[in-house]
Amino acid sequence: MQIELRDVDKQFGSDGRATVAVSRANLSIERGSFVSLCGPSGCGKSTLLSMVLGIQLPTRGEIRIEGNRVVGPSQKIGTVFQDASLMPWRTVIANILYPIELRGLPKKKSRERAFELLALTGLTKFADHYPSELSGGMRQRVAICRALVGDPDILLMDEPFSALDALTRDEISVELQNIWSKHNKTVLFVTHSIREAVFLSDRVVVMGLSPGRIVEEFAIDLDRPRSLDIETHPKFSALIHEIRESISRGRTPANLAAAG
Ligand SMILES: Nc1ncnc2c1ncn2[C@@H]1O[C@H](COP(=O)(O)OP(=O)(O)OP(=O)(O)O)[C@@H](O)[C@H]1O
Ligand SMILES: [Mg+2]
Repeated sequence: MQIELRDVDKQFGSDGRATVAVSRANLSIERGSFVSLCGPSGCGKSTLLSMVLGIQLPTRGEIRIEGNRVVGPSQKIGTVFQDASLMPWRTVIANILYPIELRGLPKKKSRERAFELLALTGLTKFADHYPSELSGGMRQRVAICRALVGDPDILLMDEPFSALDALTRDEISVELQNIWSKHNKTVLFVTHSIREAVFLSDRVVVMGLSPGRIVEEFAIDLDRPRSLDIETHPKFSALIHEIRESISRGRTPANLAAAG
């Protein structure tokens, strides 16, 4: 098991003003698998991700990566968030190489790797362009290259495609699948799109507002590699339906559900 959460709680604030963001989370993610987190706004998805990243620590329970307890930020993890947050004064290639510079790693090899990633995401021609000259989808691709350039074992992605139009989103999902299968990373992916989660994942984990609990997990046993045609498969629509129902049940806090 590469990532393991055991009885993880995260509470912000204390006593009267406390928010329970994550409660009793147990989750095992195998090396090389692609797992998505879905659930209503505020159910603790980003908080869970930031604890795996080590920038937040659980208030109870523990998180282990390859058996080692997470006690702070790790450089073995790449991240892509909703906003690509590229540095406008740096070119595409300079943005991608920024984490390498920060860590003082050898530049030549990383540069080669950066160009491989640019080729994989169809951005070779844009290496010397500035972020302002790119579309939103291209910027997200650059952010993915930047996350992968240091060859991290784990990729954490928090709604990375939510700002993109539907077609670009589909296209970039297919690319992400290709990158994932080629580089064999462990991916934990947060999305509000059930379609996207089913398309990409080996497993979809549903969180609910009861509060911040993992309510259900779904194995996505669709063949790979997957093309967008897979959406016409009856199993695909059945999974979407089941997951949607599960999220909708998880939207009701447990105390209200118990009250009727
Ligand atoms: N730094 C913080 N301080 C206090 N409360 C926080 C903090 N971060 C998150 N929370 C609270 O924890 C809960 C879970 O937030 P989180 O951002 O993890 O939800 P989410 O599932 O990612 O939601 P969304 O889908 O809207 O991104 C919310 O009630 C939020 O207000
Ligand atoms: Mg969030």
